[in-house]
Amino acid sequence: MLTIDYANCLSDRVAQHGVEPERLDRGAEPAAAVAALTRKLAASRSKPGEQGGWERWRDLPHAEMRAVHVNAVKRLTARFKPKADNLVVLGIGGSALGNIALQSALNSPTFNLSPSARTLGPRVFIVDNVDPVYFGSVLRTCEELDPGLKRTVFNVISKSGETAETASQFMVVRDLLKKRGLKGPEHVVAVTDPAKGTMRKICDAEGYETLPVPEGVGGRFSVLSPVGLFSAAMAGIDIDALLDGAASMDGPCSREDIAANPAAVLAFLLVELGTKKGKPNHVMMPYSNQLYLLADWFRQLWAESLGKKSDLRGDTVYAGFTPIKALGTTDQHSQVQLYREGPNDKVFGLLEVEDFGAHEMTVPTGLGVEAIAYLEGKTVGGLLNAEKRATEYALVESHRPNFTIRFPKIDAYHVGQFIYLWEVVTSYAGLMLNIDAYDQPAVELGKQATFGLMGRAGYEKHLKAVNATLAPTDRVWTS
Ligand code: PA5
Repeated sequence: MLTIDYANCLSDRVAQHGVEPERLDRGAEPAAAVAALTRKLAASRSKPGEQGGWERWRDLPHAEMRAVHVNAVKRLTARFKPKADNLVVLGIGGSALGNIALQSALNSPTFNLSPSARTLGPRVFIVDNVDPVYFGSVLRTCEELDPGLKRTVFNVISKSGETAETASQFMVVRDLLKKRGLKGPEHVVAVTDPAKGTMRKICDAEGYETLPVPEGVGGRFSVLSPVGLFSAAMAGIDIDALLDGAASMDGPCSREDIAANPAAVLAFLLVELGTKKGKPNHVMMPYSNQLYLLADWFRQLWAESLGKKSDLRGDTVYAGFTPIKALGTTDQHSQVQLYREGPNDKVFGLLEVEDFGAHEMTVPTGLGVEAIAYLEGKTVGGLLNAEKRATEYALVESHRPNFTIRFPKIDAYHVGQFIYLWEVVTSYAGLMLNIDAYDQPAVELGKQATFGLMGRAGYEKHLKAVNATLAPTDRVWTS
């Protein structure tokens, strides 16, 4: 199991910048409140809950949903993998960040370059932006590697089908396949709403294979559904172990005793530090390149779920915390000066890996230069972890609250645990802040303005409003 060491979030380590330890005691008011929230979460697992959402995502790693999703994912993987040298994933936000995190955590950084990695699966390109240089480069590289694109598969992921970025990418790809004389259904696997929406209609009309974004599962909570599982399985990731790991976190995250519940204790500390101790910035800093993009996935989950203007009573609260990602040790040489001596407005979540297994390296002996001789014979992973511990100590010395999540090793099982843990932490934090963790109303205005700017019928008033608000002024520097 992962371990979570939160001693450095408490006031006996970081003085008034930490939570008073007695607040976590059995019998203290927060413990009773958390027990009540746990019961509330349990009650909203099988039906729409009071948060406005539906905790259906909590069932993704369990038998009933697995039987449907994993079998469908494996069936399509068996069909498409043997004929794919390249897999291009089209999606954005919750339809991409989990996929990117899984590939980077569980496959080597040189997965696409390494010939030996082709025994695991096709090269994977996840295009989560409409930047034409980025998207165009991926398409051109696929054609260079696979002239005619005969061995390239596209995995389009969009619950709605109306997300402008994914829709435009999909239209480019559909046209490209036609120009190469290829049949769409032989090259496209879509993950979308099983019953409704624009992408569903397109898939039905064009005959693409589809996998479901399950009902009641929102984008940022969907990585353990076919949204994340198909590209993972195509790239040789052990999706059964991933789901087993996630499932193993469910019991602990459902305990009513706050000290025994890793999700409740993390949510309580982060909400308490964020709202009562002036720490609204939450840094996630893995001491592992592989885990770095899990911090990106966390960033969306934490920001989009908790950043809300109104609470469930309708009062204006401007809730939320700013998630920040950093990389150890790289950012020790970039950010730690600020983290220790800048504003004391952050909580640091450090991720540590105990065992790097076969990847571990030993610094050779024999150079004999006194100033760096202490490194001889030491492991590189040992140095990484010593630097993590040193940073943890230095943060405590400056009274900067922090916690460590320790991975025994990086594998699908523990990554599954980490994902499920943070999803449940987010749902507890939503309840503690009394906000709806499952909507994203503030994202809509920008989407509607884009529709107006791009000429979509029905959005003329949005175009007008954009042009009125951003009317030209002389406050522009130009040469
Ligand atoms: O978390 C979310 O709900 C969003 O980030 C969506 O996943 C994102 O906007 C993409 O939406 P869709 O899957 O409908 O294209």
